[in-house]
Amino acid sequence: MQIDKLRLQNFRNYEDETFCFHPLCNVIYGDNAQGKTNLLEAIAYLSCGRSPRARSEKELLRFEGDGAKVSGSIGSRQREFQVEIGFGRAMRRKISINKVPAKKTSELAAVLSTVYFCPDDLMLIREGAAARRRFLDEALRQLLPRYEEALLEYNRLYEHKTRILRDSEEKPSLLQLLPEFNEGMARAGALLIHYRARYCEKLATFAAQVHSECSGGKEALSVCYETVSTVDPFASPQEIYLHLIEHQRSHEKAELASRLCLSGPHKDDLVISINGSLAKSFGSQGQTRTAALALKLAEREIMGETIGEMPVLLLDDVLSELDPRRQEFVLSRIGGGQVFITCCEDDRLGTMLTGKVFHISNGHSLSR
Ligand SMILES: Nc1ncnc2c1ncn2[C@@H]1O[C@H](COP(=O)(O)OP(=O)(O)OP(=O)(O)O)[C@@H](O)[C@H]1O
Ligand SMILES: [Mg+2]
Repeated sequence: MQIDKLRLQNFRNYEDETFCFHPLCNVIYGDNAQGKTNLLEAIAYLSCGRSPRARSEKELLRFEGDGAKVSGSIGSRQREFQVEIGFGRAMRRKISINKVPAKKTSELAAVLSTVYFCPDDLMLIREGAAARRRFLDEALRQLLPRYEEALLEYNRLYEHKTRILRDSEEKPSLLQLLPEFNEGMARAGALLIHYRARYCEKLATFAAQVHSECSGGKEALSVCYETVSTVDPFASPQEIYLHLIEHQRSHEKAELASRLCLSGPHKDDLVISINGSLAKSFGSQGQTRTAALALKLAEREIMGETIGEMPVLLLDDVLSELDPRRQEFVLSRIGGGQVFITCCEDDRLGTMLTGKVFHISNGHSLSR
C-alpha cells in the first residue's frame, strides 16, 4: 500500500500544503522545528485517527485555524481510496472514505496501515512496562478492530473499578457494583490476553531474526509475553475468562485492603532478553536500541504478512541515533514498501535511496 497524495489544511504548522509522494522512498529533510515530524504525524493520524504523540486532537489544529483537514489518496488492495479527516474547535470530527462518512474510526485502518518509529521508541526496552504494553496495543489495534473494542472496554471498566475501590472508603455501598465490573473486565481481559499471546509469539520469531542479522549473528534476542500469573495465555478465551475470574476471587481481599485493582492484564509486559540476560537491566545502550528497532521492524513484517501488503513505514529521526553499521542495516531492511524518513543535516539520504526528497521549511515543502 502507499500514500500517493496528501493535503494538509490547518494541520499543525501547515496552512495548506499538498504533497505528491514517491511509491517507495520519501526523504523529508530540513532544519529543526520546520514541520518534518508534523508531516509524519499527519500520515499516522490518517491511518488510525490518532496521533502518536498528541494528547488531544486540538493540539493538531493550527494555532491560527478554526477547522483542519487531512486528506489523502491511498493505493491499497489494488484500489484507490480518498480518505479525509476533518476536525475543528467547534465541530466534531468527520471521517470519510471515498466521500462516504465512516461510522467507526477503525475503518481507516482497513485502508491505510502505518508503523511509526521515533527516537523515543529506541528506549522501548529500558522504559517501564507501560511503554511495551502501548507498543503491543498500537500494533494490535491496527490489525484487529475486535482488539481495539476489547481494549477500550477494558480500560473503561478498569478506570471505573479503580474509582470504586478508591471511593468505597467513604461510600461502602459502591462495592456492590464490583461483581459486574469484575465480570466485564474478565471478558474483555480474556480477549486481550488471547490476542496478545498469539501476537507475541510471532513477534518473538521475527524480532529475533532481525536482531540476529543486525548484530552480525552474535546476539540472540528472546521476547516473552508475561501476563496474570495463573492464566494460561494460550488457552481459549473462554478458559482464560475462567482463569481471570478465579484470580480476581483470590485477590478480592487484597484489592479491598489496598484499594487498588490488582487482577487483570493491565500489568502485562514483554520480557526481553539478549543472550539470556534481561535486556532492561543488563543490555548495553546499543543492544537495547537494536532490540527496539527489531521489535518495530518485526511489527511491520507481521502487519505485512497479516494484511497481505506492506504497511507504510514512518521513520522519524531515528537514523541519527544509530551508529553507521546499524544505519546501514536499517536502510537495507526498509525496502519492500513505502517509507518516509526524516533527517536534519542535508539530503545525504536522498542520494542513497531511490525516491523523492522533500525539503521542509516553515510548513512549506520545497520538493525537487
Ligand atoms: N498546532 C500547531 N499550530 C501551529 N504550529 C504548530 C502547532 N503544533 C506545532 N507547531 C509548530 O511546528 C513546529 C514543530 O514542527 P515539527 O515537530 O514537525 O518539527 P521538526 O521539523 O520535526 O523538527 P525537529 O528536527 O526538531 O524534530 C514548531 O515550530 C511548533 O511551534
Ligand atoms: Mg521532528
